[in-house]
Amino acid sequence: MSADHEIENLLHEERHFAPSAEFAKQAIAKPSLYEEAKTDRLGFWAKQARKLHWHKPFTQTLDWSNPPFAKWFADGQLNISYNCLDRHVEAGNGDRTAIFFEGEPGDSKEITYAELTRQVKKTANALIDLGIKPGDRVAIYLPMIPEAVIAMQAVARIGAVHSVIFGGFSAESLSSRIEDAEAKLVITADGGFRKGKASALKPAVDEALSAGKCASVKNVLVVRRTNQDVDWVEGRDVEWSQAVGEASDEHEAKPFDAEHPLFILYTSGTTGKPKGILHTSGGYLTQAAYTHKNVFDLHADSDVYWCTADIGWITGHSYVAYGPLANGASQVIYEGTPETPDWGRWWSIVQKYGVSILYTAPTAIRSFMKLGSQIPNEYNLETIRVLGSVGEPINPEAWMWYRKHIGGSHAPIMDTWWQTETGAIMVSPLPGITTLKPGSAQHPLPGIEAEVLDDEGNVLGRGHAGLLVLTEPWPSMLRGIWKDPERFKETYWSKFEGQYFAGDGAKWDEEGDLWLLGRVDDVMNVSGHRLSTAEIESALVSHHYVAEAAVVGAKDETTGQAVVAFVILRQNQLDAAGSDADVSKILRDHVSKEIGPIARPRTIIVVKELPKTRSGKIMRRLLRDVAEDRPIGDVTTLADTSVMDLISGKLSAGASD
Ligand code: PRX
Repeated sequence: MSADHEIENLLHEERHFAPSAEFAKQAIAKPSLYEEAKTDRLGFWAKQARKLHWHKPFTQTLDWSNPPFAKWFADGQLNISYNCLDRHVEAGNGDRTAIFFEGEPGDSKEITYAELTRQVKKTANALIDLGIKPGDRVAIYLPMIPEAVIAMQAVARIGAVHSVIFGGFSAESLSSRIEDAEAKLVITADGGFRKGKASALKPAVDEALSAGKCASVKNVLVVRRTNQDVDWVEGRDVEWSQAVGEASDEHEAKPFDAEHPLFILYTSGTTGKPKGILHTSGGYLTQAAYTHKNVFDLHADSDVYWCTADIGWITGHSYVAYGPLANGASQVIYEGTPETPDWGRWWSIVQKYGVSILYTAPTAIRSFMKLGSQIPNEYNLETIRVLGSVGEPINPEAWMWYRKHIGGSHAPIMDTWWQTETGAIMVSPLPGITTLKPGSAQHPLPGIEAEVLDDEGNVLGRGHAGLLVLTEPWPSMLRGIWKDPERFKETYWSKFEGQYFAGDGAKWDEEGDLWLLGRVDDVMNVSGHRLSTAEIESALVSHHYVAEAAVVGAKDETTGQAVVAFVILRQNQLDAAGSDADVSKILRDHVSKEIGPIARPRTIIVVKELPKTRSGKIMRRLLRDVAEDRPIGDVTTLADTSVMDLISGKLSAGASD
């Protein structure tokens, strides 16, 4: 079936699931939210912002006088950590559980809001003792343990700026991110538990800082989690247990401007260099809290919420470290992988803690689906009442399976579309209001304005696929790309004057529901993780075997897309290596070392030529046809049309991995 056909079939989805009267009655989100936001969008956002505690109230909601550089609530002052912690304790909720921590080996810990506040205060003091000042950057490279959230909150509390780097990224990736942000401190751990064993982290930090790299880093703060042996650099490395353990637990949260930077998070773009997406304070927390409460129908005093995302991704920022804490929620944090010790682990966690709201990614759902419903069926999942999905389009079959086997055929599924850049959820149904349709993210949230445009910027009506844009600024929007305002303007704001270009294809169906159709640029989505074709290509050509490389994202049943690399080899280097060199394995390992295991190509295809236009641009569209085993599309713009015969011939001869 061609991709177009598939989309057509999806868009004729006839299954609809209206909310039950019982759910609607207790729902946090009210239909009036849509009207309110339509009538007075800025007034609506100001009202959401006022649900936070402002040390100094703001008088101006939005300053859009210098687009695309927005300022939200600019004359107001607040403290992010005070909003996530102290105010709940002061309101008498100090005994409420903030975190149910489940370690992969089976250890567990319950941390109340009072205790979490105390830990964050101690950590804030330890950071100050290490010389961290407002505006300084702190890199965080930690497993999913409570210290990850504590570290982020402590950095925010003292007005410093965190840059969390996913633990699956290599020393190389870590190093380039630390250098770009000029971080003064790295917070890491000896390691974490993954797939039944201790997996080291500190050696990657040591390597990232070796040989005079990352000269900005003065100290490395090390949490002991696995008790693995680690190298220790005297004078640089500091034990968390000592620095935090001995620090005072008194720390007053000082106010910072609403536009004070909160964090940088690197994400893949269309070039080889990741972009440092910058988010600031007041607007970000406003939208993270508002969406977390309304999209998941959070009743903070009774729900147990669990988002399975790692803090290394934006979902782990907005819906683990900030949104839930701002709302005083009780949440589960799980350190490990879903298959350890067996594929029932997640469901045993849901049962153990009585999880009522579960937020995860379609790739995980499809993995469970493949293994069959008998695994979740062995557990009591009756507490689940709301489900969420994020990271990529969820196909209707996975949606139906999720609803039936995890949601007991009643829990509404929130398919949430957003990005690292948007900071918080933008398009999603609302539980108790929206009649759900499997596979569609449905509607921009109240306060958000989106359109689908054609290439010339004309607004497309129902039934036409085009490009998704956000037509009005929103509080949690990125404020820029770290140190690169030109790239910020060019990437998001230059295609359509004054409108944010998301890089996704989309279509309103005949009923006015929005369908997301995947990326329209050279960004891939593998297991809900964003990867750049250019970044993997440059990793490949950095290997001396490779003369040229082209990477595409090919459709994959479980991971959504998979990395497929076409490479032209340097024959002389290969001859020197001997004929039995396993090129495919060597190159896959190389990418893994350069970027991280998530970028490891699924398939390496060795070719003699790459399809190029007369101006030398690689036609990835044709390579995608090959990788997805489809008939090759239009080749007339190729400089040499016979190239594709060679490539597809090579593939059928079994050259793939
Ligand atoms: O293509 C869209 C896809 O993920 C991209 C953003 O990736 P990232 O910044 O890593 O953030 C992921 C978590 C928010 C988008 O441009 N995407 C995300 N959510 C959805 C989605 N595509 C379709 N449906 C979604 N619900």
